[in-house]
Amino acid sequence: MKFFVDTADLGEIKEANEMGVLDGVTTNPSLMRKAGGSDFHEHILKICRMVDGDVSAEVIATDYDGMISEAHTLANIHENVVVKIPLILDGIKAIRTLSSEGIKTNCTLCFSPNQALIAAKAGATYISPFIGRVDDISTSGMDLLEQIVTIYSNYDFQTQILVASIRHPLHVVESALMGADVATMPLTVIKQLIKHPLTDIGLERFINDWKAYQAATEAGSNGVDV
Ligand code: G3P
Repeated sequence: MKFFVDTADLGEIKEANEMGVLDGVTTNPSLMRKAGGSDFHEHILKICRMVDGDVSAEVIATDYDGMISEAHTLANIHENVVVKIPLILDGIKAIRTLSSEGIKTNCTLCFSPNQALIAAKAGATYISPFIGRVDDISTSGMDLLEQIVTIYSNYDFQTQILVASIRHPLHVVESALMGADVATMPLTVIKQLIKHPLTDIGLERFINDWKAYQAATEAGSNGVDV
């Protein structure tokens, strides 16, 4: 399973990359707004130079010609750029064209299995179901993911399932159990994956016992009463 970090914040991307388990980055207009500041294209180039993996950059146009034009510009920034296209009618047409041109696409804002099916038929490189936002409206994001996994497997589609809008570690383990190709998540969630209280308690005990062992050794005893 590939791990992408879902942020445009260069500091967070650097930190995630330094963990050595990062396979790519996803951005979107909201994340760009949050990161603030710099020229969009330069910002994407900076990310591509930091991370050895796919970097999703989203088009703003919502019409076919506009999306194609933006996609060509974005794809020219760096070979690792994946053009993010919204799951609307013109977006599907654009994905078909870009796919035939060999430009990688990430079909975003997917909320139904039929949307995922049509994105795969159009030749999307990635499909991004927003599972957290599905949960937000009292429906199961994981049920959606399971349906997409089944449909793609039934027909052997090559489109990779990139689970997006991940909010917590349980989303990650459930996605992994279903065999999703990629999980994109905030840095906070990547860090949460590491944490376990029994690890912390166990480590503290080991350290304390080691100190006691050393003290006993220095005192000429192994510290064990026999
Ligand atoms: O990857 C999509 C993601 O950025 C959306 O997340 O938490 O705004 O639903 P969220």
